[in-house]
Amino acid sequence: MCGIVGYVGKQEAAPILVDGLRRLEYRGYDSAGLAVHDGQKIKVVRAVGKLRELEKALVASPLIGTTGIGHTRWATHGRVSETNAHPHVAGDVAVIHNGIIENHMALRAQLEAKGARVVSDTDTEIIAHLVDEQLRAGKDLEAAVRSSLAQVEGAYAIAVSSVKEPAKLIVAKNASPLVLGLGEGETFCGSDIPALLPYTTRMIVLDDGQLAVLTHDGVRISTLAGAPIEPAIRVIDWSPVMAEKSGYKHFMLKEIFEQPRAIEDTLRGRLDRERGDIDGAEIGLSAEDAKRVGRVYLLACGTSHHAAMIGRHYFEKLARMPATVELASEFRARDPVILPGDLVIAISQSGETLDTLMAAKLAKERGARVLAIANVMGSAIPRMADGELYTRAGPEIGVASTKCFTAQLCALLMLALYVARRRDAVSAERARELVEGMARLPHLMRDVLQGTRQLTLSLARRHLDARDVLFLGRGPSFPIALEGALKLKEISYVHAEGYAAGEMKHGPIALIDSNVPVIVLVPRDEFRDKSMSNLQEAKARGGVIVAIATEGDEEARTLADEVGEVPPADSDLLPLLTILPLQLYAYYVADLKGTDVDQPRNLAKTVTVE
Ligand code: AGP
Repeated sequence: MCGIVGYVGKQEAAPILVDGLRRLEYRGYDSAGLAVHDGQKIKVVRAVGKLRELEKALVASPLIGTTGIGHTRWATHGRVSETNAHPHVAGDVAVIHNGIIENHMALRAQLEAKGARVVSDTDTEIIAHLVDEQLRAGKDLEAAVRSSLAQVEGAYAIAVSSVKEPAKLIVAKNASPLVLGLGEGETFCGSDIPALLPYTTRMIVLDDGQLAVLTHDGVRISTLAGAPIEPAIRVIDWSPVMAEKSGYKHFMLKEIFEQPRAIEDTLRGRLDRERGDIDGAEIGLSAEDAKRVGRVYLLACGTSHHAAMIGRHYFEKLARMPATVELASEFRARDPVILPGDLVIAISQSGETLDTLMAAKLAKERGARVLAIANVMGSAIPRMADGELYTRAGPEIGVASTKCFTAQLCALLMLALYVARRRDAVSAERARELVEGMARLPHLMRDVLQGTRQLTLSLARRHLDARDVLFLGRGPSFPIALEGALKLKEISYVHAEGYAAGEMKHGPIALIDSNVPVIVLVPRDEFRDKSMSNLQEAKARGGVIVAIATEGDEEARTLADEVGEVPPADSDLLPLLTILPLQLYAYYVADLKGTDVDQPRNLAKTVTVE
């Protein structure tokens, strides 16, 4: 879950590396460090805490040189300390690493028995010692990294620099992401595309089991065994500005307001408004395939899991298919039965979440066809899948997912409608209605964001001292309640729970008193009347009631203390509207509390540990 970045070229490396780390800081932020080759030796500066601590340390001890590596850490092995921060150095070698070396204990014992002095508690330092040992045995850097990796088991994206080969980096990857950037007379590596975007749009996404030699002239890629590989160079159409705050106080706020644009991009070229259909050429699921699907499994974690729950609703309602939602980590914790004709949809913003990746791999091994819904192009999950549907939300930097969630809902609705049409499960008329509704979504989302901004800010002020907040919803609004609660927990550290509105009377109602804000989702759909009864039950227990209701709902206005309004819309599109005030509310509570909204404590954007 760490971020790595590397540079070989003609410019000073340190500012470029720090800039790359700033874009990667969402991946981990408990310590950071740089190693830069000054032509004679490698100098390292590391600091505990956020990147600004490293920047301060660099003012005191500047690093000069045109080849270097940088790292931002989310601790897995070893506590947060400067000694455990990367880069790790052994002899002539400096290494940065994202991943986990599983056999590090055994390798450490072997190295120590031969006299190596391992100073940190990390698994990464072992790689530095292995490479140094191979260099001392007379190998060049490339060969030394190759033989070292042959001894290593586990996940890694590494970049290695050696005193002896000043203008070169060796990088390699297995199960952790690594992207190479090709500039004019300079070459980059990084954990993701946005880290490199300000410098180049020509990128290579490295595959598992590949090693690359980076010089200012470009890259040479081979398998770990040494077989040459001709890489596919992608030209990325994300602009660097997409990864900037553009005047917003936080990335999260910017990303909340970017949602209409994210949905426009996700829909672009995929809606067939004339026929009321989805252009699914890219999905890789023919009409015959769609007819043969017996059951749908939706696998995901966290926010993506909440999107999956709404996806289940779409598949059941529109395609009339059995659909099951699974937390990816729990799917693997059982012995799941995969039947012929099972379709697994793995949903992941990052496309790298290890639980989701491993669950999808397990399903594939057992015979399922796997489709990925992901935002990061070329990431691990779409790469292992049989087909993919990319959301086009652009880089999401805030750790709390917002625009990727609504883009996932949009992708799931398109996918369900595509399958439903192929199976003749939905009428052409209903399909046309939905397609028209989807086309109007960005416009409706803009209205909701503008219309609820002030209200959510004032609610956040009033609820600032609340210790618990409840979110209630029924049908597709239940996952929205869960997502509203998750957003609040993640960034404001306020205890929040989402409940199925009908379940409240079976226990959670005991939590309600006059200190507990209860946010009830009652948009006008087939579940509204029952949820209104649950709202009244909460009110009768003294709860401070906020209703998220459809414009003109006088009953909601009378019963609730406050109402956040959404425009009338097709019931299948409502989740994309009702989530917006909940995102804003969580944001304002967190901002007023003064938490680190974009990088909340203990979290990381991409979770590549189990
Ligand atoms: C979202 O706000 C969270 N930070 C987290 O739950 C996230 O959704 C989860 O880790 C899954 O990530 P993914 O979509 O990249 O797979």
